[in-house]
Amino acid sequence: MKFFADTADTAAIAELAETGLLDGVTTNPSLIKKSGRDIMEVTKEICGLTDGPVSAEVVALDHAEMMKEAEVLRKIADNVCIKVPLTIDGLKSCKALTSDGTMVNVTLCFSASQALLAAKAGATFISPFVGRHDDNGFDGMQLIEDIRLIYDNYAFETEILVASVRHGMHVLEAAKIGADVMTAPPGVIKALFKHVLTDKGIEAFLADWKDTGQEIG
Ligand code: G3P
Repeated sequence: MKFFADTADTAAIAELAETGLLDGVTTNPSLIKKSGRDIMEVTKEICGLTDGPVSAEVVALDHAEMMKEAEVLRKIADNVCIKVPLTIDGLKSCKALTSDGTMVNVTLCFSASQALLAAKAGATFISPFVGRHDDNGFDGMQLIEDIRLIYDNYAFETEILVASVRHGMHVLEAAKIGADVMTAPPGVIKALFKHVLTDKGIEAFLADWKDTGQEIG
């Protein structure tokens, strides 16, 4: 499963990129606002920190305007992936952009039927929001299972990008289901490295090692 960072914080992205485990980045208008930076400038910088896809979201609601915004955003770098909302105009834009060889991430997906439409529109990625689904009394991971089943039934190539990931259990369940990608805030990704028994084990090994009086090398 590929790991994308869901942030526009370039310092956090650079830190994750150094682990060699970062496969791409997703942003959205809220994350751009949080960064306090200009979308063009920050997206260009992010595109230089990873070779993987970097999702940049359009804000227009009608097809013609979306295409104009996509044209601006995709010129930022070759690894820009245009993010469009799951609406009729969004999927019209998705079809046009992917037909032209541009990567498209269809976002704000909350049903398996919507995911089916996105796949039929040729989406590169579909982004079901598991956390927000859970928040509203639905089962986010069931949505991922349903989409996996449908995509496998018809051999759709659209990648399932599990979004709105809030904790490690979302990541684990996404991997068990066979999602293609998950995107999470840097804090959630960094928490995956942690285990109390790992820390305790290191502490005990280092204490015993000190008692041996040895050095390596
Ligand atoms: O990738 C979409 C994601 O940013 C939404 O996450 O936590 O705002 O629901 P959240």
